[in-house]
Amino acid sequence: MKKLAVIMLIVFSMALVAIAADKGPETINLAEKWGLETKKSPVIFDHAKHQQNNTCTDCHATAEGGALVSGGKTFDPKAMVASGELKKGGTKNDVHDELCWKCHKEKKVPKGKSCKTCHE
Ligand code: HEC
Ligand code: HEC
Ligand code: HEC
Repeated sequence: MKKLAVIMLIVFSMALVAIAADKGPETINLAEKWGLETKKSPVIFDHAKHQQNNTCTDCHATAEGGALVSGGKTFDPKAMVASGELKKGGTKNDVHDELCWKCHKEKKVPKGKSCKTCHE
């Protein structure tokens, strides 16, 4: 009986690890991931923390992750970086306005639009 309990515990832990792995990285250096050269310190996005008070589909097309979305709009940050769109107009680009700030405004995140909140 004891043996069975131990085996079940192991199987259960392995399932938990598998679920955790599906959540993607805990933190993400977005600039590095998107191939962006920054003047400011790169944003280290706390993915794990954002998973606590938001749902996956607030930011992703599916609950497994995948394409980034905001308000039904899809984002391809790598393409935005490649076309130079992300650097155009300072903060007047979709990465700020739509991807990060829109939700911060909606959820009234304290200092959610302050530069230092994201760029240390
Ligand atoms: C607040 C927004 C936000 C939430 C909520 C969120 N994510 Fe993410 N996630 C991101 C961002 C931003 C990235 C980096 C996107 C990129 O690579 O361009 C990312 C990346 C990922 C990746 C890695 C994709 C890759 O190409 O390497 C996975 C997997 C993932 N998320 C899964 C999830 C799952 C599952 C949930 C829910 C439990 C979730 N995410 C919740 C914003 C979010
Ligand atoms: C779907 C909603 C949502 C989106 C999209 C979102 N955030 Fe947040 N963010 C939050 C919430 C809510 C908080 C407040 C902390 C909490 O309660 O989890 C927060 C807090 C933060 C903080 C404050 C420090 C901290 O960890 O508490 C940083 C930095 C941050 N977000 C960065 C970003 C970046 C960068 C993006 C865009 C890639 C982004 N967020 C997109 C909801 C969001
Ligand atoms: C909610 C998070 C967030 C806030 C607040 C924010 N940014 Fe950003 N910003 C980003 C993300 C994400 C990127 C792309 C990834 C990176 O640069 O690390 C970016 C990129 C940039 C870039 C292009 C890259 C570089 O460093 O040259 C500039 C310029 C910039 N932000 C300026 C600002 C200014 C000015 C403010 C304050 C008015 C501001 N940002 C506030 C998230 C934020």
